Amino acid sequence: MRVLVLGSGAREHAIAWKFSKSNIITGLFVAPGNAGTKEIGQNININPENASEVIEAVKKYNIDYVFVGPEAPLAAGIIDALQKEKIACFGPNAKASQLEASKVFSKQFMIRHKIPTASAVEFSSFRDFKNYLKSVSGKVVIKKSGLAAGKGVFESDDKVDLLAFGKEMLQNDKILVEEFLTGYEISVFAISDGKDFILLPPCADFKKSQEGDKGLNTGGMGAICPVPIVSKSLMETIRTKIVAPTFKGMAKEKLSYKGVLFFGLMIGDKGPKLLEYNVRFGDPETQALLPLIDCDFCELIKAIEAGKIKDFKFDIKPQYSLGVVVAAKGYPGKYKKNILVTNLPENKENRELFHAASASDGKSVLTTGGRCFTVVGQADNLLDAASVAYSGVKDVAFDGAWYRKDIGNKFISD
Ligand code: AMP
Ligand code: GLY
Repeated sequence: MRVLVLGSGAREHAIAWKFSKSNIITGLFVAPGNAGTKEIGQNININPENASEVIEAVKKYNIDYVFVGPEAPLAAGIIDALQKEKIACFGPNAKASQLEASKVFSKQFMIRHKIPTASAVEFSSFRDFKNYLKSVSGKVVIKKSGLAAGKGVFESDDKVDLLAFGKEMLQNDKILVEEFLTGYEISVFAISDGKDFILLPPCADFKKSQEGDKGLNTGGMGAICPVPIVSKSLMETIRTKIVAPTFKGMAKEKLSYKGVLFFGLMIGDKGPKLLEYNVRFGDPETQALLPLIDCDFCELIKAIEAGKIKDFKFDIKPQYSLGVVVAAKGYPGKYKKNILVTNLPENKENRELFHAASASDGKSVLTTGGRCFTVVGQADNLLDAASVAYSGVKDVAFDGAWYRKDIGNKFISD
């Protein structure tokens, strides 16, 4: 099987790495990829959001299967374009992508299908929003409806700040004003063949830039899988109250697809509530999750294509996995690019290095963005997984490199 992975982050490196271990892979391509994917496959320098460039590459390189990593090409309709050409692919069409790309659409879907979620009110007029704010007290969350690369959500109890954020977002989009939920957050992934689904072990990501979950929001500074406090019975509740009704609702509304659905959940006193759907794998959760999946990814794709995911032997290693992101100085604010990477840790058993924003000219590796690498470690418990991962993190060297030193800590009992 010749596979093309679209995207260029550490998530896509992890996906490509998983495909590279398949017994039946005969060609591995990543577009546009990074310095890490170049070591295990062939990078193709095209824009993954440009359907005609992708289709041309599929034909040129005789690709059998396209696996889409990030949300932007999905929302832009890459699956619709590939399906028109009868090219097998992983991910939702543009219509189903709205489950992620429109928070108004997804909130209405959750309400229609009685899926537990935060209550919310939708606005397109600043005047109505301003009037509504007068009636609320305490903390609320404002969300821009469309994709915003993590910059479209703001929580506060300060009405001046809320008003300012809402006003800015309303300039080109609708907004939701949501009830503020408390608890801890987890990410749950379900892979579907369009009929049935399998649930993967729960993950948690660490979104804030500073230790103790303080500071600014980032694209994710680390992740763990599974989450020790998530019991079997909680996963069962998530399956029956949230995941199964979602798939049932999707079938009813003709939104089913072959791919992955990501449930962003808040676990509070009243049980799990759904914060959001994403229609792709999470980053950095995927880097922690995939090393635990003990199956051949090409065989998994074949099962999905055949509509036989229910019968697929999907083994999960009974281990813990923990990933730490190494970022450029200044991230998530302004940062420099093209910094020379002077050292990287070797992969070894139970430890992987996934590149995110990196490029190589064949001799040296340079950084090309804010979150540059994820180092992932696995062990029998989370504490040991952390030492394995951090033993590699300390060997990532470039000027200004930094990382959170407490990934996983809040889930490790004393
Ligand atoms: P979302 O893009 O909807 O997942 O929101 C981004 C982040 O904002 C989430 O991961 C949460 O940390 C936070 N968040 C979103 N909605 C809520 C809510 N209703 N209550 C508390 N925190 C929220
Ligand atoms: N880790 C959250 C996301 O991928 O959106």
